[in-house]
Amino acid sequence: MNIDGVAYRSVWVDQDDGWSVRILDQTRLPWTVEILRLTHEDEVAHAIRSMQVRGAPLIGAVAAYGLALALRRDASDAALERVAAMLGDTRPTAVNLRWALDRMLKALRPVAAAARAEAAYEAAGAIAEDDVETCRSIGQHGLPLIQAIAARKPGKPVNILTHCNTGWIATVDYGTALSVIYQAHDAGIPVHVWVDETRPRNQGSALTAWELGRHGVPHTVIADNAGGHLMQHGEVDIVLVGTDRVTRQGDVANKIGTYLKALAAWDNDVPFWVALPHSTLDMRVRDGLREIPIEERAADEVLNTTGRLPSGEVVTVRTAAPGSAGANPAFDVTPARLVSGLITERGRCDASEAGLLGLYPEFAALA
Ligand code: MRU
Repeated sequence: MNIDGVAYRSVWVDQDDGWSVRILDQTRLPWTVEILRLTHEDEVAHAIRSMQVRGAPLIGAVAAYGLALALRRDASDAALERVAAMLGDTRPTAVNLRWALDRMLKALRPVAAAARAEAAYEAAGAIAEDDVETCRSIGQHGLPLIQAIAARKPGKPVNILTHCNTGWIATVDYGTALSVIYQAHDAGIPVHVWVDETRPRNQGSALTAWELGRHGVPHTVIADNAGGHLMQHGEVDIVLVGTDRVTRQGDVANKIGTYLKALAAWDNDVPFWVALPHSTLDMRVRDGLREIPIEERAADEVLNTTGRLPSGEVVTVRTAAPGSAGANPAFDVTPARLVSGLITERGRCDASEAGLLGLYPEFAALA
């Protein structure tokens, strides 16, 4: 993606030294585009935990590079297993993290220690490249949904409601649900996006709005609770979201608040579609409500809010009453029955085992 004429991805290997890892610090957006240089696996773990990098596919790719950084110093079998376990523990809900580290372990276990670091950079690079192509294809497969709505309301914008941030900064490039929106916009379809603020961390108002603004996509930021009202009044043609884990039966874990949007969409006959790459599928898990671990983040994220003063200073202030406790489950699970369908890099399908196996028959044996 372009920022002020420069083509960026959300993670890359430094061109000058050829080994350190560069990321955009997403905790500084939308105020400052700040690039961080990561040189140690502990910095990578910190970047994932503190959400300097975030979004399911991106944390997988960055963790893969974290393993490569570690193997430069110690490429022993013990280090490989220890660092993969440490990075895998940084966030629990998005299965992409585990997926990327498992793919790295599978590629690197058979490699002799002397050749491991180089092989690790290659394997991490392949994960990143894969993600770019995958996300581009997701956009292509989602595009007909938007074209069909546009054909029913000529001359009027297609109103899309989205939650959290599913754009190029949540992946290596393009995004998942936002890839569909970017490709529709680029194809000349008039689109307008209702951007859920996405409290408590404001991935919608801070990150999605920033991305859409940079890409010239018309959008409006709304409070998280406004979506149901807009649907009741015919202001939403489709809900498009991403996901952090999809189970074998098509249950969808995504940013907290997604489930409420799905309920409102169901009640108002608004299509509710979920975009995902194959790395987000967890075919070993069936019942999302019981089997997907939900990350519980610090209560401070709910009790406080962060913003920029007119002076330019970025401040975090308490908005909750003094002394009140807070709770911060970061994800929820939308049951498959509320999902109109899934958009993947291989095409669209029902949110069901049969739908998923139709696109990914090679996963039939996983249980
Ligand atoms: O806590 P975050 O910001 O990492 O959560 C991200 C989301 O919930 C996205 O919707 C999800 O990763 C899918 S889009 C790439």
